[in-house]
Amino acid sequence: MPVVPMQKILQDAFAKRYGVGAFNIVDSVTMQAVLEAAAKMRSPVIIQVSVKTVKVMGAKVLRAMFAEMAARFDIPATLHLDHCPDRAVIEDCVAAGWDSVLFDASLLSYEENLKQTREVVELAHRHGVAVEGELEAIHGVEDGVGSESEGAAVALEDAVRFIRETKLDSFAPAIGTAHGVYKGEPKINFERVSEIVAAEPVPIVLHGGTGLSDVVFRDLIARGAAKVNISTQLKITFCDGLRGYLETHASEHDPLKLLNAVRGDVTEMAAGYMKIFGSEGRA
Ligand code: 13P
Repeated sequence: MPVVPMQKILQDAFAKRYGVGAFNIVDSVTMQAVLEAAAKMRSPVIIQVSVKTVKVMGAKVLRAMFAEMAARFDIPATLHLDHCPDRAVIEDCVAAGWDSVLFDASLLSYEENLKQTREVVELAHRHGVAVEGELEAIHGVEDGVGSESEGAAVALEDAVRFIRETKLDSFAPAIGTAHGVYKGEPKINFERVSEIVAAEPVPIVLHGGTGLSDVVFRDLIARGAAKVNISTQLKITFCDGLRGYLETHASEHDPLKLLNAVRGDVTEMAAGYMKIFGSEGRA
């Protein structure tokens, strides 16, 4: 069962309280690395892509590459579009057969966000595509999308109304985590996750995974965070891996050796997170 719907992956993780890593890949090398990590750990996995990468490679190319690569591995894998405020890009990904999208209308007013998210969910669900939604902007601009500050907290009853009326498949609340490298200790609102899940049992998405401690991951996953996003650490591992290899092999000019080495580094990084998130052995 290579490619499976996002809903299937999230519902199992949410019910059994483990987290599935969603890694923002940047090319074929990193996509393969993350799939290899999942195969090694017998873990379900989410291949996540930023809009910036979709604009470089194209929704159809990414989907075709994902389908071909995932078919080689006997683990559940699904393809997700990360933070996307642009409905045209969402429509392209839905048309190309992606499994899931995050419609990020967090910079719009509550009512406008609710109205547009409902429209996106209607379109996506007609094609079997899952939708992640966001109400309060999550701190940190990533790949050109996002906000320099966390959006104001929305009352619990309004968050619940948003989840119910839009019929979202997963919800990403702002709980004090941030995209990028943390400058200090993040102040995390753990209770917010428990409150939302108690009021409406929807899989929660944890953004800003890079730099959080194992204890924080495990706590939030136990409360209902079923999808855990990792982007910055993949970029760091990739770039540092390339730099390190080139420095230690200054007279070598074999691109495949270089890329194989970096792929190994990214595989190891992703496998480490799968262990922490408790998704090991769940495939
Ligand atoms: P990091 O870049 O902090 O890992 O966050 C990833 C993320 O939340 C992508 O949406």
